[in-house]
Amino acid sequence: MYKVLKLNKLRPLLAAGVCLGMLVSAEAAWEERAQPDELAYAGQEPLGSKGVLGPPVLMETSEEAYREELQASLRRRIDALLDDQGLTREQRNRLCLRMSGDSALLTLLEQGELTGADLIYLALPNGRAGLLDRYSAWAAERPGIGDEAVVLQVNMDQDQAFYTAVRTTPHADSLSVLVNKHYALPDGFVPQLEVLGGAYGSGSLRPEAARAFRAMADASREDGIALYSVSAYRSFETQTSVYNRYLTQYRQATVDTFSARPGYSEHQTGLALDINVASTKAHFENTPAFAWLKAHCARYGFILRYDQGKKEITGYQFEPWHFRYVGVEAAEVCMGRGLALEEYLALQPVF
Ligand code: DAL
Ligand code: ZN
Repeated sequence: MYKVLKLNKLRPLLAAGVCLGMLVSAEAAWEERAQPDELAYAGQEPLGSKGVLGPPVLMETSEEAYREELQASLRRRIDALLDDQGLTREQRNRLCLRMSGDSALLTLLEQGELTGADLIYLALPNGRAGLLDRYSAWAAERPGIGDEAVVLQVNMDQDQAFYTAVRTTPHADSLSVLVNKHYALPDGFVPQLEVLGGAYGSGSLRPEAARAFRAMADASREDGIALYSVSAYRSFETQTSVYNRYLTQYRQATVDTFSARPGYSEHQTGLALDINVASTKAHFENTPAFAWLKAHCARYGFILRYDQGKKEITGYQFEPWHFRYVGVEAAEVCMGRGLALEEYLALQPVF
């Protein structure tokens, strides 16, 4: 009876093309495990005190075994669809894993809608299905850069000029929110704020970032290093006046290399601050305070946000004073591997 129930449950999967041979072998495996008494107990409470392998466990185990067999069968079916695409075994395995959990992608594969290049991008852990057209277009524009670079660069929106195809971030409240020349904060966004206070310098930050900054400044002081904020949270209005003031002195293309347009500044998130100075002339990068920050900031959840050599990605020149709170885990990865926040996020696996 239990088996009949199981087969009824499995019928839709059979209709969906699941291999019959697999079902037969799963049935055989079930037969081998299930003893008559256990079959009789199916769906009932265990009898007496002997129910060590009680029926509910048997049911779950059997269901689990069926599910695993079905999944394996599905993967074999996907693998067959990947024949003759020139993919490596590893790429095929990764695609089987991905598509067995993504029916929309599987449908595209079955309908022959995915090119060989699409499959290579989708086999990468950070390959995003919604960006396939942009990957192909970018690869055509930059021949020879390699598939991983294509995916990484498009994930970072490097195929779109700064401020040309901007979106509003849906993650404004996240500690790892990306705000840059592609992602704006929502209109009217104001984070929860806490005044830094005392010797910690001017301004406010989001409570998590404020606490972390105080802890970091306390630790640096024990090493003889004073750290204090010279600019932390800025409202939209403040960022507007900062940016506009620079516009009276420099042309916009220059201002854009060191000041964010209103709505696009990390200072508006309440998660970023300028430490000790905010000017290239001060050469903060040559101070013991900077060296201390570089070595220790990640432990407190901060990253050096606009490092040297990242201008193509961030759009900003080196700002040795600008630190951003992202949380300890992300900060350790970014600082440990020398990744900009954009790179860190673009490398995140999607399956
Ligand atoms: N100086 C940084 C980029 C800002 O204006 O947010
Ligand atoms: Zn700053």
